Amino acid sequence: MNVAIIGTGKMGSGFARLLASQGVEVIIGGRDAIKAAQLAQEVGGGTRGTDIASAAKSAELIILAVYYQKLDEAIRAAGNLTGKVLIDISNPITEDFKDLLIGHRTSAAEEIQKLAPDAKVVKAYNTIFAQLLPAESREGREPVQVFVAADDYEAKRAVSDLVTKGGFEAVDAGPLSNARFLEPIGEMNIHFGFFLGWGTSAAPSWKKA
Ligand SMILES: NC(=O)c1ccc[n+]([C@@H]2O[C@H](COP(=O)([O-])OP(=O)(O)OC[C@H]3O[C@@H](n4cnc5c(N)ncnc54)[C@H](OP(=O)(O)O)[C@@H]3O)[C@@H](O)[C@H]2O)c1
Repeated sequence: MNVAIIGTGKMGSGFARLLASQGVEVIIGGRDAIKAAQLAQEVGGGTRGTDIASAAKSAELIILAVYYQKLDEAIRAAGNLTGKVLIDISNPITEDFKDLLIGHRTSAAEEIQKLAPDAKVVKAYNTIFAQLLPAESREGREPVQVFVAADDYEAKRAVSDLVTKGGFEAVDAGPLSNARFLEPIGEMNIHFGFFLGWGTSAAPSWKKA
């Protein structure tokens, strides 16, 4: 399995370290290819770093680790995404993190699908903080759930496998349009984590009573 990660920030570097440590072949794409290559070297395990287009071209699964406001530029830079699985981890939030920018009748995931109509967009990971990506941060606690919403069955299965490989519990969250509901849950988690004192180990989980 090989995965491209677009973005070298908190989530991008966290995914690179996690997946490389699980034996996944990782290629990091950054708008600054040198920064991406440096990060890849730090991550090790054969991880490569390059520009966004080269990274996107070389993998079938692409994690978009860029803020929602910049995703249109990142998707344009990625080039031809026909048939690729695009993993949207974003929470489309305001700069102060306190509110959503869009919702109710659409979602970041659906807007990304419009920007890349020939790709298969999957919503996942938006309800966990970057601090929970390292496997060590989850040791000794119940499995952390990652909600996976998509319209394409195979794409959802591939992303669920990746989620499981990283030591999370993949939860089928239905069609891509359910990102309309997952994104507010991500925003609520940000309120718990940052504004209500829970810290960044907070993560929602869905339980049967
Ligand atoms: N942080 C979290 O805990 C968390 C949790 C759940 C979901 N998310 C979501 O994950 C995504 C990334 O968040 P983050 O915290 O990793 O952000 P971050 O640390 O600020 O990193 C953002 C990355 O986006 C890149 N970028 C900015 N503008 C770009 C452009 N026009 N084209 C291509 N790349 C561009 C930046 O590149 P440079 O390095 O060149 O500036 C940087 O590598 C967001 O959508 C966020 O909502 C974050």
